[in-house]
Amino acid sequence: MEKKVSVDFDREISRLGTGAEKYEARQALFGKADVEPFWVADMDLPTPPFVTEALRTRLNHSMFGYTTVPPTLNDAIVWWQKTQHGVDVEPGWIRLSPSVVTSIAMAVQALSQPEDGVVVFSPVYGPFFFVTEHNQRRIIDLPLRLRGDEYVMDFEALEKCLQAERPSLLLLCNPHNPGGRVWRRTELEQLVQLCNQYNVKIFSDEIHCDIVYAPHRHTSLLNIDGARDNCIVAHSIGKTFNTSGLNASFVIIPNSSIRKAFVDAQEVSHCGGVNLLGKIALEAALSPDGADYKAKLVQYLHNNVRDAVARLRAIPQATVMMPEATFLVWCDFRAFGPWPTVMKKLIHEADVALSGGTFFGPAGKGWFRLNCAHPSQKLLNAVDRMVTVMTAGY
Ligand SMILES: Cc1ncc(COP(=O)(O)O)c(C=O)c1O
Repeated sequence: MEKKVSVDFDREISRLGTGAEKYEARQALFGKADVEPFWVADMDLPTPPFVTEALRTRLNHSMFGYTTVPPTLNDAIVWWQKTQHGVDVEPGWIRLSPSVVTSIAMAVQALSQPEDGVVVFSPVYGPFFFVTEHNQRRIIDLPLRLRGDEYVMDFEALEKCLQAERPSLLLLCNPHNPGGRVWRRTELEQLVQLCNQYNVKIFSDEIHCDIVYAPHRHTSLLNIDGARDNCIVAHSIGKTFNTSGLNASFVIIPNSSIRKAFVDAQEVSHCGGVNLLGKIALEAALSPDGADYKAKLVQYLHNNVRDAVARLRAIPQATVMMPEATFLVWCDFRAFGPWPTVMKKLIHEADVALSGGTFFGPAGKGWFRLNCAHPSQKLLNAVDRMVTVMTAGY
């Protein structure tokens, strides 16, 4: 029976001494070892107790040899997709993967050839670019268009590009990082229709799909007519349950030949599967308790992003997007000078380290991304410092 999960999201928990990248990399990335970090997209909020308990129970056993994938793990994924996203998944469509980024690499290798074009809509999560380029594929960057303070896809540019460049693959971030957009069903339908028409496969990265703010609802690509035979959908518990260090992710591939190509690519590099603790965490998280935790987390994060955005919008000449999904807030600070100058000011005067926009491709230049998955007071104090510095100094 479902237990009611209680988590104190307001409590500050020090991550020092845990090897947390968000903290340990501060000197190297920002030149200031004690700047308050609001950059990389993991949460300073606790993994729920039923997940840590499941891990602890397993650690009580003294052997950590090779393990199989228990059918109950696939059942948990099927249950989660059905109850949280209204998606019907067959267990045989699931493949575990250490991380979503690993799955991007496998998809690129499985579904395209060296020198083929791979379409991305920038700004977008940096590894969409890096992984594609490291695999000697050609990035075709179709920047999203700004409509007011939200991003939309440029379907006219997409169709021209599909006609002229004949790419093999399109990488979609659904929902979108860094803009926080929940792509609408009609937009996804149009995308799928065009990709099917020009025989382009779609990799849909749905890692942020559990953190969506009402009234918005995530639409999985798996629920778009005509997509199932043409796509790979990737998900992970990393964002929602703060378990990115456990490397526990999975893909869903309904089409058997795409699935075979993906599995072959995994086997070439021997990099399929999830480690033992990741599997334990996956099964514990994708459960009724997990759904209860998620609902509470999303409510907390919604308040955080709403309050942060309201305050940041007081900065004259800044554009700040209100995310429909994700705990990330995307801010346009281009009016405040060259981005390295703005970055320095934020670090040294406001004492905040944000993700710089160029990580998300050329379209991100001059933008900054704030991670709001922190105890509210800590977040809002940092936001207030940003507002003071940005308002006074320009
Ligand atoms: C859109 C997106 N995809 C993938 C990742 C990374 O996922 P993983 O750690 O499973 O590779 C992130 C992390 O920020 C992300 O925002």
